[in-house]
Amino acid sequence: MSSYKEILGKKIGEGMHRSVYQHKDYDDIVIKVMKDNSSRPDHNLIEYNNWRNAPKDIRNYLIEVISVTRDGKYLMQRKGGDIIDPPKDIPKIIKYRFPDSFLPGNNDWRAFGGDSRLCDYGFSKL
Ligand SMILES: Nc1ncnc2c1ncn2[C@@H]1O[C@H](COP(=O)(O)OP(=O)(O)O)[C@@H](O)[C@H]1O
Ligand SMILES: [Mg+2]
Repeated sequence: MSSYKEILGKKIGEGMHRSVYQHKDYDDIVIKVMKDNSSRPDHNLIEYNNWRNAPKDIRNYLIEVISVTRDGKYLMQRKGGDIIDPPKDIPKIIKYRFPDSFLPGNNDWRAFGGDSRLCDYGFSKL
């Protein structure tokens, strides 16, 4: 059993691939748990690697990933605020790197420190 299981708080969201929980002790952190039936079982691992590999100009549009388990089942990420539109002046590079995140209704952009940042960015590899 993973120790990540013990730090899950209330469930706050769900997508096609992951269920998202509040960290039980820290308000500003979420835990993203892979669903067993996901068609992209490496989604958490790719999101983690994208955060690690992103150059600064891309990182500024991403919400920080803190850690991931080696099997990719659990990922810890800073918590975003309300669902929000992508920034109006978004650089083309972000659209090219993460085209899925501009599809309507996918809730990938969240308010973060006065900006709008991506919280779901494991679709394409950086
Ligand atoms: N870091 C975060 N802070 C706040 N909400 C989040 C965060 N990450 C994901 N969510 C929300 O949880 C839901 C599912 O997360 P998401 O990363 O999109 O999972 P999936 O990969 O399954 O689509 C979405 O509504 C998303 O906005
Ligand atoms: Mg999503």
